[in-house]
Amino acid sequence: MAFDFDTCPERAGTDSTKWHKYAGRDVIPCWIADMDFVSPPAVVEAVRERAAHGVFGYPAQRDAVFASVVGHLRRRHGWEVRPEWITFMCSLVPGIHAAIRCASAQGESVVTTVPVYPPFMTAPVLSERNPIKLEMVFEAGRWTFDWERLEAACAQPHAKVLLLCNPYNPLARVFDRDELLRLADLVRRHGLTVCSDEIHCDLVLDPAAKHTVFATLGEDLAARTVTLMAASKTFNIAGLTCGFAIVPDPALRARFRRVLQGLSLDQNMFGLAATQAAFDHGEPWRQACVEYLRGNLDLIERELRGMPGVVLRQRPQSSFLAWFDVTALGFEDAHAEFEKGGVGLSNGADFGGPGHVRLNFGCPRPRLQEILRRMKAVVARAPGRRS
Ligand SMILES: Cc1ncc(COP(=O)(O)O)c(C=O)c1O
Repeated sequence: MAFDFDTCPERAGTDSTKWHKYAGRDVIPCWIADMDFVSPPAVVEAVRERAAHGVFGYPAQRDAVFASVVGHLRRRHGWEVRPEWITFMCSLVPGIHAAIRCASAQGESVVTTVPVYPPFMTAPVLSERNPIKLEMVFEAGRWTFDWERLEAACAQPHAKVLLLCNPYNPLARVFDRDELLRLADLVRRHGLTVCSDEIHCDLVLDPAAKHTVFATLGEDLAARTVTLMAASKTFNIAGLTCGFAIVPDPALRARFRRVLQGLSLDQNMFGLAATQAAFDHGEPWRQACVEYLRGNLDLIERELRGMPGVVLRQRPQSSFLAWFDVTALGFEDAHAEFEKGGVGLSNGADFGGPGHVRLNFGCPRPRLQEILRRMKAVVARAPGRRS
């Protein structure tokens, strides 16, 4: 079945965070991580059906939606999950907070790596924990962990939680099994709980990479891990606010749920319907989307050859996010310069990576072409080009 990713409906004026930011300005938004594509037909139909019913009272989490999650994880990731391990939530960010709060006390430390999705840095602070932030390193052609510093951080007696982003936003790494086993060894030896955010796991672009669910590396690891997932990135349904945590260990799960209790963080009925439809019927669309994103990535790599000073160190292995080092352009504020040139990228500083910008390439190819054309014009007038 063919899907049309080249043409998408207008999003300006549709209550979109991404597009609202630049309302009335000639700036193409390519920052926050949602795609401009229409969701799979089965998802649109499920939401339409629910809306047509016209009664929007409190939703129930029926067995069918648990079965969808269980089936999806079995088929795609070889992970056997029991329905009772699953907690639905309106968003994964509260899940990051809850994982931290249920596995550490005030003043204890949470280990994270940077640059990273901003809540990984803010959640420990908002929870009055001490964040230990370690820089990722680029070695042998790929982004990876600084193992020595990670070992030292995890070995501190007050270090209780490791925040893992796999696949990694914004570096788009899909960690190898070997790297994850090394992490597993670390957290075992030092007794840390892991919050593994795997929201990007179903958009693996690199045919040589395979996503490994951290919790599948051993039963003892599953018992010390809170895994966070959603259909939202893959099937472009973030606005329907539905994610889930999987916590196999009953004691950890009880603590996790206690933290969330009373905060009204339940998902809504549209999110449940869309998640179920996406997992049950979205696979052909998902595969087509991955193929399309690979094509977008090829275009980016071709155009970057004409943009000296914009450095993509590693071809993104996952999702629709490309992380550029733009320090060589010599701008004081590269993000602002690109905005002036009509391109609304994410500012690397927000991810703990100043001197960088992040491009969201989950958009129709003609739009991406225009983004890259505008970027090229900005690069052409960069001070770094003249030195
Ligand atoms: C790693 C990661 N986790 C969580 C989220 C957000 O999830 P949610 O919208 O469910 O809060 C994002 C969004 O970009 C993300 O990249």
